[in-house]
Amino acid sequence: MKHFLNEDSSSIREKVVILDFGGQYSMLIARRIREAGVFCELLPYDTSWLEIEEHQPAGIILSGSPASVNDISAPYCDPAIYRGGVPILGICYGMHLIARELGGEVVKGSRSEFGRTAFKIVDREPLFEDDYFLDETSCCAWMSHQDEVLEVPPGFGVLALTENNTIAAIGDKENKIYGVQFHPEVFHTPGGTNVLKRFLFNVCGCSQSWTPRSFVNDAVAKIRDVVGENEKVVCALSGGVDSSVVAFLLDQAIADRAIYIFVDHGLLRLDEAAQVIKLYRERLKGQFIHVDAKKMFLAALAGVTEPEEKRRIIGAEFIKVFKDKALSMGDIAYLAQGTIYPDVIESGTVSGAAIIKSHHNVGGLPEELGFDLVEPLRELFKDEVRLVGAELGLPGSILKRQPFPGPGLAVRIIGDITAEKLTLLKQADAIFREEVYNAGLSEELWQYFAVLTDVKVVGVKGDDRHYGPVIALRAVISEDAMTADWARLPHDLLEKVSVRITGEIPDVARVVYDITSKPPGTIEWE
Ligand code: XMP
Repeated sequence: MKHFLNEDSSSIREKVVILDFGGQYSMLIARRIREAGVFCELLPYDTSWLEIEEHQPAGIILSGSPASVNDISAPYCDPAIYRGGVPILGICYGMHLIARELGGEVVKGSRSEFGRTAFKIVDREPLFEDDYFLDETSCCAWMSHQDEVLEVPPGFGVLALTENNTIAAIGDKENKIYGVQFHPEVFHTPGGTNVLKRFLFNVCGCSQSWTPRSFVNDAVAKIRDVVGENEKVVCALSGGVDSSVVAFLLDQAIADRAIYIFVDHGLLRLDEAAQVIKLYRERLKGQFIHVDAKKMFLAALAGVTEPEEKRRIIGAEFIKVFKDKALSMGDIAYLAQGTIYPDVIESGTVSGAAIIKSHHNVGGLPEELGFDLVEPLRELFKDEVRLVGAELGLPGSILKRQPFPGPGLAVRIIGDITAEKLTLLKQADAIFREEVYNAGLSEELWQYFAVLTDVKVVGVKGDDRHYGPVIALRAVISEDAMTADWARLPHDLLEKVSVRITGEIPDVARVVYDITSKPPGTIEWE
């Protein structure tokens, strides 16, 4: 299997390599660097210098780690990186490692420093040369460590000290090797991104070459290069932002040699399938195939109540339907997929991390389909995908679409799924979405949706006793879906939604609002 853009990514553009020692903020370091306009990639900490060199990095960052450098099993990187002539910045554990490996001394501190800590700049050059620090001699930073550098290695100087006089930043200017005890990547280190920028621009000499336009140009050229003059590419569209951006890139790169397949499983929200079909038909030059598989999915799901079983069935049905259609299209060499960077990392292919959630693989297509893969978004974070989508002219309805699970409404109907329940949930969900939108809150929320519970309760409608289902409303605020807070929606809004749902959908007996954050809850109910 070929991995698009990974085969030869070193030649694409200026790049910084982050060696990931398993720190909780490694992904955040990558985001900050990209936000600064520099492309970067996370590699496992034990990647050999030979392999790192192939990426032709402009700089290397050593991340934090839960380990201590004095542990017997402490992770360390190929020591050849220190002699490679590439600038290095160690963050927290990364700094301790540099200090220990190059002849300094690291000890367990007399007191641990966790959280916001003040530090004073001893030498501005080069990490604190930013205008941000012009009038600052004392700054605040986020620390999370127990170890400290007692003695800097030969050739190093101290650049900053904490208020307890422990070493907060070190540097060997001649060899361009630096370390900071604090976390410049986190929000709680004001000026942290300025430190990163000085490393990127002053020390590594990076330019701000990473932009959505440069990405589109690269990706289009690369697709043409990989696919060649004659081959065809098939692409599964879901209506979501990732697969849509892939489609619009393919459209620019190979126009009518792309074939798009939209498997309509009937589990999308009200009117959503019709909207995406219209958009794709109007905007894409390649052949667009709409497979109406609603009945097939309903039949396969009949009587199934267990959430993971629902996911498994939907994943398997999707593959079956897609495969049949794609293989019937004749000679197609490539499959384009909207795999994005967090999927690559979370599936463990980069850092050896465990698979975090099985549901990230739902809808993924198996290798035995026999296509070579084109995955132009493998390097992008979700917000970068949106920026690229905007650059390609995707409409706001797709770009601002809330994250939607691959198994769709199937995991928002608790218990078994029927056509009637689907209709009811779609109506309730549409009312909730409409009112949130009208209240001007849609962009503040990460996700907001209705759930059809399997609880029936007693109510009174008109003068009659009514016995019907409970609809639960869920709205959350989140950065990345890993954690989420329940949204404090205005009571007036909730009341309006409740009145409309119970009034417009006769069967619904009651509406409740979910006030559980994640953890301990999850965003979806199943
Ligand atoms: P949870 O419920 O685990 O959801 O807090 C986190 C994020 O993942 C989405 N989600 C899914 N996405 N297939 C998907 O593609 C799934 O099976 C699935 N389950 C949950 C969820 O909507 C939220 O954004």
